[in-house]
Amino acid sequence: MKVTVIGSGYVGLVTGACLAQTGNHVVCLDVDAAKVAQLQAGHVPIHEPGLEAMVRANAAAGRLRFTLDAADAIGHGRILFIGVGTPPGEDGSADLQHVLAAARTIAQYLIGPAVVVNKSTVPVGTADRVKAVIEAGLAERQIDYPVAVVSNPEFLKEGAAVDDFLRPDRIVLGSEDESALQLMRTLYAPFNRNRERIQVMDARSAELTKYAANAMLATRISFMNELAALAEQVGADIEQVRRGMGSDERIGTHFLYAGAGYGGSCFPKDVRALLHTGREHGLQLGVLEAVQAANARQKRVLVQKLERRLGPLAGRTIALWGLAFKPNTDDLREAPSLVVIEELLERGASVVAYDPVAATAARAQLHDKAGITIVDDAYAALDGADALVIITEWREFRTPDFEQIRSRLRQPLIIDGRNLYEADEMAAQGLVYEGVGRPS
Ligand code: UGA
Repeated sequence: MKVTVIGSGYVGLVTGACLAQTGNHVVCLDVDAAKVAQLQAGHVPIHEPGLEAMVRANAAAGRLRFTLDAADAIGHGRILFIGVGTPPGEDGSADLQHVLAAARTIAQYLIGPAVVVNKSTVPVGTADRVKAVIEAGLAERQIDYPVAVVSNPEFLKEGAAVDDFLRPDRIVLGSEDESALQLMRTLYAPFNRNRERIQVMDARSAELTKYAANAMLATRISFMNELAALAEQVGADIEQVRRGMGSDERIGTHFLYAGAGYGGSCFPKDVRALLHTGREHGLQLGVLEAVQAANARQKRVLVQKLERRLGPLAGRTIALWGLAFKPNTDDLREAPSLVVIEELLERGASVVAYDPVAATAARAQLHDKAGITIVDDAYAALDGADALVIITEWREFRTPDFEQIRSRLRQPLIIDGRNLYEADEMAAQGLVYEGVGRPS
């Protein structure tokens, strides 16, 4: 099939590469000339396991190309995906300017009937708005190709994006247009083996499903973070509580890890946007407000732990391991590390940080801040520091050289925001250790 993908960011790029991988002919359109040039040269600008190899292989096979030329791209596809960003506006609502601009571009260059697919995370009602914009644009050109708009939210996780796309839990298709749905079923057939993954619903329900899923996951995390604080007070261990709760099938074991707070480009933004949608309709989503507030508190917990152990932090040097909002990505968006750094610098501490992948992104983002150094060796970050704070659970932090940690730190203190180690083992290593929600 001929497919166009508008927007070569996370969602668009993964969609384009994976659809090319299953034999479709895909053209990806973006307005960022530098990004398109990079992609044409076979370089993927984001860190995502497996993506660059897939982009290169499909480009070489002639099934995937990147362009700045809207007429070329829109003229190519029978199915046109919109995968552009929906950044948060000042009031927390999702900013739809890029989505609506993509709709106008489609209307301007369309040369036949089309199925337009919203893959970006967009507020309820956006499919209708996109359809209205396209129809208005076509009317200006005095043509009336039939255009269907399908809401097809993406559920991929950064760091596992390719795998999530190729092996989805579910494929949500929001539309009441039978022929558009038929085309989408054919497109997704290769990802729908063994059991039925396609769920057809109306577009508004599909749009809300995406927000609801992210809001539920964020809720689980904030709930566990709150329970972790309680566990510390009552002398319980949140890890044991997690196992005990999670083995109830209705609760399940995933996404119950207390930690440094959730970050990333999705949860914080989508929670804000859903709260905004609630307000727009006169509804106060109280549970979700509490989830957001609990997360803001959680991002400060590690610094509070440091203060309890060390007293005032002015003049102290703190080593940080992990800057990315989670492992396997170089993404720093809304990362808990940024709040930790901010709070430490505000208190007059210096920070020496290490991240195996996000160092370059962090240097670019934090270069104007005095008091922070980013180093390329995990152990070099420890030299002369008063404590080590672990913020991201990169695999290489799971079994570090504890002897080096002890000898290179000025004092043997680890504050672990991801509960990577066991307190008794740390004590045996001569380390003072504190996790989140665990006896220490
Ligand atoms: C999230 C969702 O998991 C995807 O399903 C969704 O498609 C995506 O947003 C999106 O809307 O595009 P992502 O933001 O890549 O994916 O990251 P997650 O793996 O969900 O992690 C989010 C944050 O929650 C991270 O900061 C992570 O450290 C934190 N987390 C996760 C916890 O603190 N505890 C947990 O148990 C799980």
